[in-house]
Amino acid sequence: MRLMQHKREAFWFYRYLSNFYDKLVNPLFWTERMREKSLDVADWSDGENLRVVDVGSGTGFTTQGIVKRVPAGNVVCVDQSPQQMERAMVKPDLERCRFRLGDAENLPFDDDTFDRYVSAGSIEYWPDPQRGLNEAYRVIKEGGQALMIGPIEPVNPISKFIANTWMLFPPENDYHMYFHQAGFTEVDWAYIRPHWQDNERYGIAIVGTKPKPGKSPNAEGRRSRQELVSADPEGGWLGRNLLLTGRVLLGSAAGFLFIPMALLAHVTAPLRGVEGEVEPLNKEQKIVLGALGGLLTFFVVRALTRKR
Ligand SMILES: C[S@@+](CC[C@H](N)C(=O)[O-])C[C@H]1O[C@@H](n2cnc3c(N)ncnc32)[C@H](O)[C@@H]1O
Repeated sequence: MRLMQHKREAFWFYRYLSNFYDKLVNPLFWTERMREKSLDVADWSDGENLRVVDVGSGTGFTTQGIVKRVPAGNVVCVDQSPQQMERAMVKPDLERCRFRLGDAENLPFDDDTFDRYVSAGSIEYWPDPQRGLNEAYRVIKEGGQALMIGPIEPVNPISKFIANTWMLFPPENDYHMYFHQAGFTEVDWAYIRPHWQDNERYGIAIVGTKPKPGKSPNAEGRRSRQELVSADPEGGWLGRNLLLTGRVLLGSAAGFLFIPMALLAHVTAPLRGVEGEVEPLNKEQKIVLGALGGLLTFFVVRALTRKR
C-alpha cells in the first residue's frame, strides 16, 4: 500500500499540513472553479430541504461550496483530523454547520440519514476505498446521491510514479467500479483540472443514486464499526512507529514534490499552449515560487563560478 494510504499516516500528515493547506495546497490543486464544476454534477434543486454530510471535510473548502447550495445548518462535516476541523470551524460561513470527528470507512451515523453525501480529495488516504463507498451508500436515504471527487491516476510516467508512491490515485475505472459495487445507480461524472494542467482527466467528480434503503448490498460480511484512526500496521510498538515515521516523512517528501512541479506548470502553462482561464497565484504561492527561483539561481551561479 502507498506511503500515505493509511489512517494514522494521514492523521500525522494533516497535523502539520493544516497550517498551510488553504494557502498553498487547494489554490493549486483544487480550485474554486473545480469545486463549483464538481458540485454541480449532483442535484441541488431542492437545496433548502437537503441534509448533507461532507466526509473528509478538512478545512471546509468544499463545505464552503456546499453551503452556497443548502443552508449551513443542514450540513454535517466529518473528518478524522482535529487540526483540519478546527480551521473549518472558525470560518464564518460554516458557523452553523455541525462538526464530528469520524472515519470515512466507519461513519458515525445511522443508515438512511442524509440526502447528499459529498467527499472531496479524501479517498486518496482511505486504506479500503470500497468500504468508504459502501458507507456513503449506507448513510444516504433512498433516492439520495453520493458525490465523490478525487484525482485520477496521472498519465505522465514521472507524475504517476510520484503519485502512486505517495497515496491512492485510483485509475478512472476504479471509481466506476466502487460506485457499481456499492450498489449505486444513475452514475454520472465530469472531469476536472486546474487551468495549468493539460491532462483533461486530471480529476473526476462522480455521482450515484441510492436505489433502495438500507446498507450497501456489497457490505455483507464486512467488519463492523472500528475505533477512530485504528488502522494499525502489524508488529511491535517500535516497529510500528518507525514505519509510521518513515512513511510520513517519505510521503510528505513525495507530496511536496508536487508543489514546485505544479508551480512550474502554472507559470509555463501559457508557453505550453494549455487552454483555460488563468487562476492567478496568491501571495504565499508567489513567495514559494520566489524562494525556489532564488535557490535555483544560487545553485546555477555556484556551479558556474566553480568551473572558472
Ligand atoms: C485533501 S484534504 C480534503 C479536504 C476538503 N474536503 C477539501 O475539499 O479541501 C483530505 C482530508 O481527508 C481527511 N481524511 C483522510 N482520511 C480520512 C478518513 N479515513 N476519515 C475521515 N477523514 C479522512 C484528512 O484528515 C483531510 O482533512
